[in-house]
Amino acid sequence: MNTEKKKHAADEGADLKRLQELVVAHYAGDIHSIHGIAHWRRVERFGLEIAGESGADILVVRLFAWLHDSRRQNDNTDAGHGARAADWLLELHGSCFVLEAERLELLRYACRWHTERTATDDLTIGACWDADRLDLTRVGTLPDEAYLNTAHGKALCRHIRRQLRPGHRQA
Ligand SMILES: [Fe+2]
Repeated sequence: MNTEKKKHAADEGADLKRLQELVVAHYAGDIHSIHGIAHWRRVERFGLEIAGESGADILVVRLFAWLHDSRRQNDNTDAGHGARAADWLLELHGSCFVLEAERLELLRYACRWHTERTATDDLTIGACWDADRLDLTRVGTLPDEAYLNTAHGKALCRHIRRQLRPGHRQA
């Protein structure tokens, strides 16, 4: 199955297009900023690549990509934006997507702690957090595999570093 077909097979009836529209419509900042829509698309792509290798929960990974920065109020540290995302996604749950309680908690945990915590033993949370960190190159910083959790995330990190080392800062 090609990547696009796999992606849709893993939607599980979730209306991701509607979810994306709502996230964009409610975003408080500039949708084209460093934490905006292009970042969410790249996080989704990295997350799907990692999940394809690791067996992480594909729908949770995709939802994380679109939700984790959705409640940012600025492009600085913005303490609390992960917690706000973890709360807000409960309002979308049941309309745009439905997850069993355990998966919903995984998604909420991944959003809640995506900036404050780095290490996890959970495959799905690891895929989410690694996907987010692999996109540090957008702000001129090379990702560091010491802060990544998954084998494929680390492999992608090494590939990115080989490609982009000149001119980028270390994480
Ligand atoms: Fe992010």
